[in-house]
Amino acid sequence: MAPVRVALIADIHHGTDKFTKKGSTALALMEEFRRFVAEANPDAVIDLGDRISDVDRETDLRLEREIAEAFRPIVRPVYHICGNHDRNWLSVAENEEIFGQPLGHRTIDLGGWRIVLWSADTLVRTDGFKLSEGDFIWLAGVVRSADRPLAIMSHVPVSGHAQESNYYFERNPQFSCYPNADRVRALLRAATIPVVWFSGHVHWNTVTMVDGIPHVTVQSLTETFTCHPEPAGTWGLLELDDKVTWEAFGRDPFRFGIDAAATARRWVAPLPSFLDVPEIRSEVEFKR
Ligand SMILES: [Fe+2]
Repeated sequence: MAPVRVALIADIHHGTDKFTKKGSTALALMEEFRRFVAEANPDAVIDLGDRISDVDRETDLRLEREIAEAFRPIVRPVYHICGNHDRNWLSVAENEEIFGQPLGHRTIDLGGWRIVLWSADTLVRTDGFKLSEGDFIWLAGVVRSADRPLAIMSHVPVSGHAQESNYYFERNPQFSCYPNADRVRALLRAATIPVVWFSGHVHWNTVTMVDGIPHVTVQSLTETFTCHPEPAGTWGLLELDDKVTWEAFGRDPFRFGIDAAATARRWVAPLPSFLDVPEIRSEVEFKR
């Protein structure tokens, strides 16, 4: 079976320049992205959300429409996920109308893989995101009934990876992840098929292995904090086959590859606290 090829783009942040986001360059970079897609001819294009830097309802409707126009010439199937900035002033229904597609949870079978668009709630509260029971249960059903490898896409990551040196999240880690993402990670632990997870939101390229599953975050199209003062201009190509390979292009290039079979192998569950493990506790007490 031919590999499945998916182009990913994240955190476009079209709008005015804000903090380290160079939103004013988004439309010009989208033109380059369209050229890349035309040449690479992937099976699908996925936008991981935060298409705009929100201002108010009227402005945001205009900004989202401009991004919809920027995607329109792409002849390959395009799928969108909403990020927090797409939701601050606009509803999911308004985004659905602008992008002409349902934006709830979806699965798309491509080749031997199942692409999972997990559109969990991205509304930000003062204490961070909330993961609703409905969002959790939908994903639990997909994982439990999986009869093929899963490539899961979300705006907000669930790995809980460290945020040291991240411009936005080093001092705001509670906004980088769902607070109860450990429950999602526990759910993934039961998966017996290969699983890979891709997210946006944190504006940097990372990979974090959790229990054999690679959790990849995709740099924002217009972010500058890793290559100041220029925008990263990041998009990338994911190839799903017996090997999973991810390559992000732009000023912040990044590559990752792993055998798909390795992502189906769960790791030995971590030790409890050393003080609750008699063999270790006795050593520690002896040294004291
Ligand atoms: Fe963002």
